[in-house]
Amino acid sequence: MQEIFEIKDKDVMGRIGRLKTAHGVIETPTIMPVIRPGTDASRLRAFGVEIIITNAYITYRSPDLREDAIKKGLHHLTNWDRPIMTDSGSYQLYEYRDIEIANSEIVRFQREIGSDIGVPLDIPSAIDITHTRAKMELDTTLNRLREARNLIDDCKDDMILAGTIQGSIYPDLREYAAKEASKIGFDLYPIGGVVPLMERYRYSDLVRVILHSKLNLEPASPIHLFGAGHPMVFALAVALGCDLFDSAAYTLYASGGRYLSPMGTYFIEAMEYLPCSCPVCSRNSVRDLRMDEGLLADHNLYTSFEEIRRIKEAIREKRLWELVQMRVQAHPKLLDGLKEMVSFADFIERFDPISKTSFFYGGPESSRRSEVLRYSNRLDRFELEGNVLITTKKRLDIEYDHLFFLKPPFGPYPEELSETYPVGPSEIPKTPDHEAMVTAAANIRRLIALNPKVRFVIACERDWEEYLRGVIEDGVEVVWIER
Ligand code: GUN
Ligand code: ZN
Repeated sequence: MQEIFEIKDKDVMGRIGRLKTAHGVIETPTIMPVIRPGTDASRLRAFGVEIIITNAYITYRSPDLREDAIKKGLHHLTNWDRPIMTDSGSYQLYEYRDIEIANSEIVRFQREIGSDIGVPLDIPSAIDITHTRAKMELDTTLNRLREARNLIDDCKDDMILAGTIQGSIYPDLREYAAKEASKIGFDLYPIGGVVPLMERYRYSDLVRVILHSKLNLEPASPIHLFGAGHPMVFALAVALGCDLFDSAAYTLYASGGRYLSPMGTYFIEAMEYLPCSCPVCSRNSVRDLRMDEGLLADHNLYTSFEEIRRIKEAIREKRLWELVQMRVQAHPKLLDGLKEMVSFADFIERFDPISKTSFFYGGPESSRRSEVLRYSNRLDRFELEGNVLITTKKRLDIEYDHLFFLKPPFGPYPEELSETYPVGPSEIPKTPDHEAMVTAAANIRRLIALNPKVRFVIACERDWEEYLRGVIEDGVEVVWIER
């Protein structure tokens, strides 16, 4: 079978990809605006929309819409000739607890009306249920995924089938779900049941859920993060390997008078200036936006796509880490999410491209970047003998056989690597933070431990004293130099 998802470029765990559907190819990461069934979506092209998502269950439930959808097709119904994803009604199931349709019926219906990407009827488990309950619901979801897979032929049917990962907040269940769904085999894996986490700003949990799912899916499979529509989370989610988002947020937030930005949410009532240059914000005043929810929604959509383009350019330039570090400043809990992410550094390192053009130190989390971890793991590659000088200064009157410079957070690096990524071209502040110093000192200790026969001399400023205590106690000679 021909691969339907092709990865063009990567950074951190994020990627720019091309997803093939029956109504054309879309480039990811991208946002699928949520469209009310039966409404005209054609005006959305102007925003950069490539694919929309609508609800198959709501279409099915209304006799008129159902008849039209079956007769004329979903694309006719929405006046949209490009790709359309349909959701199955799972979310209605979660919100209202009862819906009257069988999984097989809604899956067949999605195919019948010409959906490009269909979704079986998964159960979006709540986040406050017991493990036993979550496991039961997950087993039901997995059975429905199997049933759907048997109905939709990967080769003969035009519809891509998505296998949603559930499992509430339990890491073992997310892992199990991902493994089982992979065995069944889907072309797209949505991560579901995360809306309540995002509503409560529980970004650490969100990061864990994404990574425990991702850890057990094929790295080359496209991932959709269900219900994530706020531009401030896109960069983090893409860096974690998510490719598709759906946004009802742009209208939902507008109806609550909220003006979205990648830096957070503003209340239009409280605003005096519009910090955006989209067509809406260029041509209208704050007053206009206050009085017109449609204008507010349009701005919300423009700013969401602007952020997606910014993310894609960051991937191309291998600067996604730096963008994520800026974006998590939007809310302390997003910063917690990034901290959770770096606790998976070993895993992330396996995906992150080896060579980039720059490394900007953007705060303590930078000490846990793949580049730093990788450098530390490779300290055993140097063949050293005799005297090694580790120094923060270029010229010193000390004899040596090997010269290492000292640069936080990497620690000691041989002068031969001065021009080599990441150590050489890394940009770090003149006054490194605590984490960078701790990481550098740990790498000094590691290099010393790896080379028991070598005599080390360290030449550095007194700022290093507290970090080198163990090394000094072990008898390594340290020469203090003036700043
Ligand atoms: N929309 C938001 N969350 C979900 C989910 O978990 N499953 C499905 N099918 N749709 C969703
Ligand atoms: Zn705007």
